[in-house]
Order: sequence, then structure tokens, then C-alpha cells
Amino acid sequence: MCGIVGFIGKSNALHFVIPALYRLEYRGYDSAGISVIHNGRVFVAKKKGKISALTTYLSEVNFPSYANLGIGHTRWATHGEPSDYNAHPHTDSTGEISVIHNGIIENFLQIKNQLKHHSFVSETDTEVIPHLIEEEMKKGKDPETAFLDALEKIEGSYAIVMITSKDPNKIFCARKRSPLVVGIIDGVGYIVSSDIPSLVTFTKKVIPLDDDEVAIVSFDDVKFLKNRQRIYKQPIEIKWDIQEAEKGGYRHFMLKEIMEQPHVVEDTMHEILSVWDEIVVPKYSKILITACGTSFHAGAVGRIWFESIARKEVDIEYASELRYKDKDFQDSLIISISQSGETADTLEAVRIAKEKGAKVVGLVNVLGSSLSREADLVIHTNAGPEIGVAATKTFSAQLTALLLLALKLAGFQKSHKIVDELRRIPEKIDRFLSKNNVQDLAEEVATFKNALYLGRWISYPVAEEGALKLKEISYIHAEAYPSGEMKHGPIALISQDMLSVFVMPYDRIFKKTFSNLQEVIARKGKVISVITQGYENLLPAEVIKISIPQTDDLLSPFVSVIPLQLLSYHTAVYLGHDVDQPRNLAKSVTVE
Ligand code: G6P
Repeated sequence: MCGIVGFIGKSNALHFVIPALYRLEYRGYDSAGISVIHNGRVFVAKKKGKISALTTYLSEVNFPSYANLGIGHTRWATHGEPSDYNAHPHTDSTGEISVIHNGIIENFLQIKNQLKHHSFVSETDTEVIPHLIEEEMKKGKDPETAFLDALEKIEGSYAIVMITSKDPNKIFCARKRSPLVVGIIDGVGYIVSSDIPSLVTFTKKVIPLDDDEVAIVSFDDVKFLKNRQRIYKQPIEIKWDIQEAEKGGYRHFMLKEIMEQPHVVEDTMHEILSVWDEIVVPKYSKILITACGTSFHAGAVGRIWFESIARKEVDIEYASELRYKDKDFQDSLIISISQSGETADTLEAVRIAKEKGAKVVGLVNVLGSSLSREADLVIHTNAGPEIGVAATKTFSAQLTALLLLALKLAGFQKSHKIVDELRRIPEKIDRFLSKNNVQDLAEEVATFKNALYLGRWISYPVAEEGALKLKEISYIHAEAYPSGEMKHGPIALISQDMLSVFVMPYDRIFKKTFSNLQEVIARKGKVISVITQGYENLLPAEVIKISIPQTDDLLSPFVSVIPLQLLSYHTAVYLGHDVDQPRNLAKSVTVE
């Protein structure tokens, strides 16, 4: 969840490390730091707060303005509160070794005990790493050997990057269950980073590290090691455009990404249909979907499609729970959904299932990510880089991929009538986006402290996604319930202080949801309803209506989720929150 970056090359490292840190800020934004080697000495600067606090600080202190080698870190705290001293990089006792880390060192307390004669200045687990390396160097080892020997003493998950004045022409990198990628900038040098999206402005040529691999990056070469043996890895090409990672005139990435959804559905559909005959789903007897966060909600919609369209029995589990289940995965097909392809819980669940005999279909947005490399079959959600921490366009891309996968599992051709309706979805989303009343509702929504999101059947996972969005960026407590469950408890909460958001397209179960809405109105609850255009008059006058375009019952999530995304967006903006980087959240959660 922290973001790490390193540069070595012919240009000024600061011109790469600082912009890359801004790009990585969505991975963590409670403190940041950089370190360079200048005139044979290690320099470190770090500051609590966002990258802008660090850059302001750099302009105030005497930090070298030029270096050919540097590293940077943006932190999402795990061990130790956000503060200047807990920020990375961390150094050893001599100040000659500087380390940044993403992950968790599980045996850091034991190591600290073994290194009692060292003095530690932070509460972090990371700080033991430079001290361990220092200890190995004291034994007369060169930095590379000391680095490799120190790694053997560390338990947990990590992406580690080290620089040292003892070997000022190298960046030492290691990966175990936390992502790390080496980017090749032709004619300039190398950049290492936590993720591929942060590199698109610098290069399209990247080499992701796999678990237990080490990269020793020098000015004109990268040496990859596994089990201390040299290995050779080929670069992959990133297809994304630089413009896709910019705000393009929008105030926030989240709004830009919401607006991109028509073409994201189109692009994902197009890409999958263009390889339709090549998609061969591994054989299976059971299907299980696993994911986290928004991806899980897309999976919950997908489950209904697999059941309704393909007539398959499907289980779904949060990835963070799946690993504790005593399941037999023999002949199972795991459908694992992840925007980043790097979520630690998702990867761990997939690995456990694979070890027990499962085959894995990965629905992934970032090609080259860990999930895309570990899955048996990859289906690409072609949404482009998503920068806003609250996922929006990737949800729509995941829906598109899941719907098409359901058709594939059903053995249907791409000429099926559901595909025809899917082709009409981008225009429908576009129509809604170009004319709606959602922004006008923000002021009123902002007055509530609690909200219920209610929907039945295929609208229930959409309600879950809507509630998640409101929580994430507006910080308003919101919970989703299947609306039929309301009478078993949540109805006790209904009063004029409780907002109820009903997701109720005019579909085969509309009348049932309508009864639940009446129950809320009878108890003086405030109601916003997302309803199919043309059916608004069926609802009581006091209900606030958001009209969505009509579509097939099964495809309504594509259009019903859009107003919920906008509702949370406009409410958060109205409340003055940081929409793209909400408190305590990170885009890519690489710790378990
Ligand atoms: C984090 C993000 C969410 C995302 C979830 C799963 O919590 O803030 O937006 O839905 O991780 O991420 P993934 O990359 O696996 O889809």
C-alpha cells in the first residue's frame, strides 16, 4: 500500500522520483520521503503529510538538487503513526544505508531484540532492515551479499529498495509478496516502482519482479537473481496512453473516471469479443468467485449472471475470508477479480486455491500485475489506468467482462441478444451522464449521518457498491441490505434522520421493492430512488427520483450504479473532502 520508487541513470533522479511519487500517492499519503547519493554521501529528507509537504520541505532545507541515483517513498502507516520519524527512507546507524519498504516485516521485534546494541529511532518494522544489512556489512561482506543475507533473516511480505554509499552505482531491490516493477527508459536509465500505472509517463517497457526475486540495478544493466542465481527476464510493453493517466480538464480523477464509463464498457467489450474464440475456460466442476472491495461487488453481480445466463451454481467469498475456509478446490474454477492485480488478500486466496488444485481465471485491469501472471486464463478489463482511490470505471469494465464470461460459460455465441443489448449500454450510460439531477441532491445527502442502500436480487450488489462509495469518500455511514431483509432489523432505524437509497429499476421484482419503499415512507424516512425513466409516477411524491435509462432486467447494474457513484462524488465535493485520496484508504492494498 506504500508506494516506492527508485531511479538510476544519466538524468537528475529528482526529476523522476518526485513525479513518480505523485503518481504513487494513491497507494498511501500520510508521509513521504526521498533519499539520494550525492558526492558519495547518502542524503535523506522525509516529512509527514502528502508529497506536497515533502517538496515544500525540500525547498526549505539544503538538500542536493542533483543526483543520478535516488529513491522515494509514500507511506500508508502500518507500524507506527504517521510522523516525520516513522516516514521512509530508514537508515542504519552509520547513515550509509538507506531503505524503503512496502509490506510487513513480521519478525521485526525479534530482529530488534537481536540488534539490541543498535539504536532505533522509529516505531516501524522497516527500520530493522538497514540495521540488519549494516550488521552483515560489518562482517566484511560487500553490499550485495549483505543485502541478500539480510533478506534471508526477514519474514513477512516486502518490496525493498536500498541504496548505499558503499556502492553508490547501484539500486538493490527485492520482492516477496509485495509488487515491484523495473521500468527501462531507453537511453536514460532505469526506474523501479511499486506499480505499472505510475510508470506510464516515463516508459512503456517494464519488467515485473516475481516473488523471491532480486534486482540489482546499475547505470547500464539490471541483474536479476532468484535463489542467488542469475536469471534473465524479458520486458513487457504497457499499452496505456500517457493522457489516460492525466485529469484531462476534470477537477478530480474520480469524476473523469465516472465520465469515461461509456467508452470503458465499449473498449472492454470490444477487446473480449475480438478474442472470443480464443478464450478457452479451463475445465471445472465448481465455480467460486473471489475478490475484495468494489471488485467483490462486481463479482456478486457476476454470480447472478452465471446463475441466470449460464445456469451454473456459483459461490462467492471475500478473498480475505476464503483462505480460512476448509474447501476442496479440486476441479474448481476460481474467478478472481482485481483492478490492480496486486491486492494481497486476493493473491493469497488464489495461491492457496491453486495449491489445492483450482484453475484460476483472473479478471484484471493491470496487465503484467501479479494476478495477470499467476492466473491460468486472463480476461483483461480494458479500463485504462484508474487513479481515483474509489473505484468507478473499473467496476463497469468488470461487469462487462463478467457478463461476457457468463455467456462464454453458457456456450453462447457472441451474436447472442444479450451482447446486442450490451452494445447499447455505452449510449445509455452516456445519456444519463450528460443529463441528470444528482449534483442537486448533494447538499441534502450531506446533512445525513447514516444511510441505508436497499435493493433486491441484481440490485442488491449495486446497493452494496453504492453504500461503499458513500462511506469511502463522503465518510457518511452507509450500509446495504437486500430490501426484503429490512423488516428483519434495519427498519428499526428508519426515521427522518435516516436516508434510504432504493435501487429499483422497473424490473421483474420492482413491485416487491416498491412495498419496502412504502414501509420506509410510512415511517417518515427520507427516500432517494434510482428508478427506470418513465416509471417515476408510480412512486410517492415525497420520494426523490433519479431516472435511469431502461435496459434489460439483467443488465440494469450498468446504469443503476452510475447515479450512486455520482451521489457519493458530489456529496464528498460538497463536504470538501479529498475525493481522489480519501482518508485511511489506499488504491492498492498490498498488505493482508
Ligand atoms: C482497495 C481500493 C478499492 C478496491 C479494493 C480491491 O480497497 O480502495 O477501490 O476495490 O482495494 O482492489 P483490486 O485492485 O483488487 O480490485
